[in-house]
Amino acid sequence: MKNIVTARAHTNIALIKYWGKADSTLNIPTTSSLSMTLDQFYTTTAVEFTESPADRLILNQQETDATRVSQFLMMMRAKYGQFPNVKITSENHVPTAAGLASSASSFAALTAAMFGLLELEKDDAELSRIARRGSGSASRSLFGNFAIWNKGSDDRSSFAESFYNQDIGLSMIVAEISSEKKKMSSTKGMQLAQTAPTYGAWVEKSAYQLEEMKSAILKKDIEKIGLIAQDNALGMHEQNRRCEAPFDYFTKETQRVVDFTAQCYRAGLLAFVTIDAGPNVKIITDHATEKKLLAKFRAEFPELTFDVAHAGGAYEYL
Ligand code: ADP
Ligand code: DP6
Ligand code: CO
Repeated sequence: MKNIVTARAHTNIALIKYWGKADSTLNIPTTSSLSMTLDQFYTTTAVEFTESPADRLILNQQETDATRVSQFLMMMRAKYGQFPNVKITSENHVPTAAGLASSASSFAALTAAMFGLLELEKDDAELSRIARRGSGSASRSLFGNFAIWNKGSDDRSSFAESFYNQDIGLSMIVAEISSEKKKMSSTKGMQLAQTAPTYGAWVEKSAYQLEEMKSAILKKDIEKIGLIAQDNALGMHEQNRRCEAPFDYFTKETQRVVDFTAQCYRAGLLAFVTIDAGPNVKIITDHATEKKLLAKFRAEFPELTFDVAHAGGAYEYL
């Protein structure tokens, strides 16, 4: 057996969101989702067996609470047979728990690394099923460019696959409003959102939007992609505001960026937003517009940090 295995996976941003579970132990979602993997943000994770009395997580050079990763490893032990405790050494090249999908890149990287350490067959569907158990969005982060997580109805049928493995010229400008750890995890947030009276309607619309999104990607129609993704994301945040214990990931700054993006679109620029479980905004545009748009945003929001991301690749061993 190899002593240490290192894998890297990129984050992904959903254009059609996963926001709710039909089964919270297995992470079976209420909707299928579709994402683009990003080149700029990723996690690198090394795994090795250890004689320590428990699984360990060293995240960004600090000993970190290993509860969530240890639960994940316990699930792998139940599935593939017992193995010793594991020392995980991980670097996030993305802010942790800030709504920039660190759980997606980190559980995809951890899954790939563990498949290497345990010398399991690297079947994409199986990697995706296992990554899904760590964090739903991680099921999509193993693939480059565009991936679809078909919701399925049980452990076997719920996994992601590559949808279109080409760069279609879509750009995401990430407006970093805060890189602080969020108060409401994605797991908890979506559980609450599902109590909104309008949640069923959002789920129904999502199925229709997924089909529209697929055809827009195949046609490389960035305007259509942006319009659908924006409606789907804003709808997701509406559920948070309408659920039994209402909450909001938006800050004042989030709303200002959303409003300014709409203003840019009205002025004739390709500009749409998508927002995940955190205050940061991803502005959807194309390669041809990104520089002009970036200059406008930098002038309007000098206090914010902006990064430009394009489509990223599949997981890799280092
Ligand atoms: P995000 O928006 O960043 O995906 P989540 O609430 O979905 O936020 O998940 C954040 C959680 O993911 C962290 O609190 C931690 O438990 C886990 N996580 C993030 N990065 C890593 C990593 N590199 N290794 C292990 N677990 C990680
Ligand atoms: C808003 O995958 O982080 O980013 O499965 O509970 O770990 P858990 O949740 P997570 O949720 C991601 C939610 C989202 C939308 C998306 O990525 O599809
Ligand atoms: Co997450």
